[in-house]
Amino acid sequence: MNKIKVFVSRKILEDGLLILDQNRFSIYISPHDRPLTRDELIEACRDVDVLISMLTDKIDASLLDQCPKLKLIANYAVGLNNIDLEYCREKGIKVLNTPDVLNHSTAETALLLMIACARKLKSAQSALQTGTDPGFSPMQYLGFDLRDKTLGIYGMGRIGRQFAKMAHNLFNMQVIYFNRTRGINQENMDLHFARQVSFEELLAASDVVSIHAPLNEDSRGRFDYETLLKMKRGSLLINTGRGEIIKTEDLTRVMCDQNGRNNIDTHFFAVGLDVTSPEPLDKSHPLLQHPDILILPHIGSATKRTRSEMSKILGLGIQDFFALI
Ligand code: DGY
Repeated sequence: MNKIKVFVSRKILEDGLLILDQNRFSIYISPHDRPLTRDELIEACRDVDVLISMLTDKIDASLLDQCPKLKLIANYAVGLNNIDLEYCREKGIKVLNTPDVLNHSTAETALLLMIACARKLKSAQSALQTGTDPGFSPMQYLGFDLRDKTLGIYGMGRIGRQFAKMAHNLFNMQVIYFNRTRGINQENMDLHFARQVSFEELLAASDVVSIHAPLNEDSRGRFDYETLLKMKRGSLLINTGRGEIIKTEDLTRVMCDQNGRNNIDTHFFAVGLDVTSPEPLDKSHPLLQHPDILILPHIGSATKRTRSEMSKILGLGIQDFFALI
């Protein structure tokens, strides 16, 4: 019997791969620890039944047409914006992702960014490293108090809810949220402390806005120049969703002057991003140089436990899929 061929486009924790019966599945793992080029990805997938893809792999119609044997795509991420889902549906290709298991670690990353931004971690740390820190000073690094402030969640899905609970429990933050669809069952979700508002109210009333929405036609570029300026002056902006939700050039315009230097009187108290567009930003990008903008290299789900559970979810999903056919 021919084995089911599985290609993994980048080395991952192998817990999920070990679930797959070696008598039924042959597993090929990319030898490169980097995103594959488009040609390399197509070449590797031409003859396989399953692709375990990364969020950096763009899986569009032309790639799918060149990989006629593909039956299943198991995306090592919760977001599916890198895949043409409509075309997969048309071609009868099943798509899996890794929901739920990464809620906590991604919400932790939002919390990390929120606290670090509120307490000026980046400039304090860099002053120490560059030897410009004058030592303790009663007037330096005065932070932003999170306690009792209003947190606005853009996209109250599973990760948004997890973060809302953390912020409410830790800092008694009052939570408001905007969702594309109305009617989250607040009782079942244990969200009695959160109130759904319009997008305009979210912008105007939040001391911290945290982005958790998936990337789709509604959210792409939603945080543009006008929107950013509608947010409260002196507020915090956090993004652990997808970089394309904020227009990078517009955020740069809001935070930096025309010469790309830092604008002393910036609109936001600070900005914390785990995701950017493009990703990564060029190392000379003004946003990376800005003392009040803390950028992480997309580490939302990057804990051993979470990445191992993501691997297992996909392994089990692949096994179940082929058990049925
Ligand atoms: C995802 O899974 O979509 C996350 O962005 C990974 O960190």
